[in-house]
Amino acid sequence: MLYQLVSLKTHGMKNKNQGALSIIEGTQDAPFEIKRIYYIHGVKAGERRGHHAHKALWQLLFCPYGKIRINIENGTESASVLLETPSAGLLLGPGVWRTMDWLQDDSVLCVAASEHYDEDDYIRDYQQFREYVAQAACK
Ligand code: TYD
Repeated sequence: MLYQLVSLKTHGMKNKNQGALSIIEGTQDAPFEIKRIYYIHGVKAGERRGHHAHKALWQLLFCPYGKIRINIENGTESASVLLETPSAGLLLGPGVWRTMDWLQDDSVLCVAASEHYDEDDYIRDYQQFREYVAQAACK
């Protein structure tokens, strides 16, 4: 599975001016215990971040404000997913190279993660990623 889209539970208010409330619960909407939440903000449109994969980490990405394109590949498949509604979540598992394109100023990318921060879990070199997934496919 390259990715999974998750529809986040969202309660709209009767008074539309009062917006809506979206929910992510660990082990329910995210299929793991959430150990860490981080968010990327203050990014200008046109910027690209990411350029890495993880060896073990699971993540649920969501964009509570703005528009961000997530480009992903796992060595055999690739896709681009647009996050542009606060009620959409994108579930990514290990072995997925990703870049994120900011399509609107100050879009916020939030991530619920299955593990604490561990730089050793990152693959930050694209060639190394290709070798890693090719080796994993042979096992
Ligand atoms: P990085 O993963 O390179 O950002 P992105 O791939 O989204 O562009 O993270 C930026 C910096 O923040 C880097 O020095 C690592 C650090 N960092 C932490 O210390 N803890 C964390 O939980 C995360 C996600 C990053």
